[in-house]
Amino acid sequence: MYAIETNSLTKEFGKVMAVNNISFKVDTGEIFGFLGPNGAGKSTTMMILTTLLKPTLGKASVAGFDVVTQATKVRQNIGYVQQEISVDEFLSGRENLLIQARLNHVPKDQAEKRIDEVLDLVELTDRQKDAALTYSGGMRKRLDIAGGLLNRPKVLFLDEPTVGLDIQTRRKIWEYIKKIHEEFEMSIFLSTHYMEEADQLCDRIAIIDYGKIQANDTPKSMKAALGNYSVTFTFNDLSKKSNFLEKIKEIEHVKDITTKDEKVTVFSSKETIMSSIFNLSSGLGIEINSITFTQPTLDDVFIAYTGHDLRDNVGTYDRRKEHIKMKRIRA
Ligand SMILES: Nc1ncnc2c1ncn2[C@@H]1O[C@H](COP(=O)(O)OP(=O)(O)OP(=O)(O)O)[C@@H](O)[C@H]1O
Ligand SMILES: [Mg+2]
Repeated sequence: MYAIETNSLTKEFGKVMAVNNISFKVDTGEIFGFLGPNGAGKSTTMMILTTLLKPTLGKASVAGFDVVTQATKVRQNIGYVQQEISVDEFLSGRENLLIQARLNHVPKDQAEKRIDEVLDLVELTDRQKDAALTYSGGMRKRLDIAGGLLNRPKVLFLDEPTVGLDIQTRRKIWEYIKKIHEEFEMSIFLSTHYMEEADQLCDRIAIIDYGKIQANDTPKSMKAALGNYSVTFTFNDLSKKSNFLEKIKEIEHVKDITTKDEKVTVFSSKETIMSSIFNLSSGLGIEINSITFTQPTLDDVFIAYTGHDLRDNVGTYDRRKEHIKMKRIRA
């Protein structure tokens, strides 16, 4: 049995295809991530899986139960921490959790014990009696996450668990998520638009853009598909750019080329790519200004699959470019 299984899942809001024919499976025990920019369809998918929205078309099951026909069963088996912080500021941390426990039908005789346990897990025991109003953003998020654990879910949904938090706080939350995953042995489905988060936490990720899954694999194999080497450089004679890039593309071990402003990045499976670029440039009378040699990151993978990076203004990007990029990436 899969923790989550979807088949041609689709959600339309009027003319907007928020989720467009999505099929994927999440294994039991896996941490699976949806990585995508604003408006990609992450929250909509999550709301369908947590039974808050009905799909327009397609099917989905969570913990073995159909999200439409067995919604109550699904709800009994999941925890859901929504994107917006939902704690009641005027109640204490503990009071917030008591309400959560009641909403989730946690048996009364077990509620207090479980609250102690989750408070300890997210290290809020000392502050449990203080009003949530006095908590930092990171602490509020931790309280939210704690609330999602009270009914001992088989599948935990975390919608952008660290959005808007500073990097130290984000790292801390990642630690809690890893700890929760180990201690409760649950499956986790999270969404994020942070590459590093997907890379650090997820066993497998799906890159989602404009409601569609563009790639679905382990972060490691996604990076490996670009080869193990990446070279980024700038050069002086831009009139020769297309000729130069064509020549590089012809090199047998080159997997992909992306450009951003003046910078060109070449992905390759061979270390010799650096010298090949120098040879070609001197042959064409081009002078390389700066050059760096690294390994592909998940950022690179995202650009290779979608034609834009996560920080670009996605509203203005060219869909044709996306298509070219998709074809170009070679496994
Ligand atoms: N209730 C709604 N009515 C109409 N359109 C909606 C509704 N909810 C979402 N949408 C649209 O569906 C698309 C996907 O939105 P969604 O919230 O799922 O994206 P997201 O990936 O979660 O983005 P973000 O990173 O900003 O949270 C967007 O174009 C959004 O405007
Ligand atoms: Mg969202």
